[in-house]
Amino acid sequence: MKKISDYLKNDHARCDDLFTQTEFYVNQKRWDDAQISFNLFRDFLNKHINIEESIIFPALEYAIDSATGPTNIMRMEHVYIRGINHHLYESINKKNTVSFFDHSDTLQLILQQHNLKEEDTWYAMIDRALNSTKNEVIHAMKAIYRNESVIAEHLP
Ligand SMILES: [Fe+2]
Ligand SMILES: [Fe+2]
Repeated sequence: MKKISDYLKNDHARCDDLFTQTEFYVNQKRWDDAQISFNLFRDFLNKHINIEESIIFPALEYAIDSATGPTNIMRMEHVYIRGINHHLYESINKKNTVSFFDHSDTLQLILQQHNLKEEDTWYAMIDRALNSTKNEVIHAMKAIYRNESVIAEHLP
């Protein structure tokens, strides 16, 4: 059976693919396709961030008995990432290639560092800390993938 971290790592890879596709369309100045592709990327990334912030981090904080520190840094980076996404959305709306690639360079840098930190440090810890409640955690994650609100009783 898949681990919690498998789902989370798959999300990172899928976001990378969707963003590469968006860059391709912007390069070609296919703005309608770029907008559709970017919206898919942003919606999916927002779901992933929602899963981390509403399920994964609270469960990890509970398991390691710490509500401060590393997970707060991850949350702050999520705010930063969402801010860059807003600039990218505006750049596509204005069909501004230069502005888009300025912000896309920043996004890729921060997202790559952020995802590596999560994958190398936190996801392995999450698999260990949440092993006994893995099924409930994955159940709650799938509800977010399906756009359902998470039911508290399914959370560890
Ligand atoms: Fe994250
Ligand atoms: Fe992540």
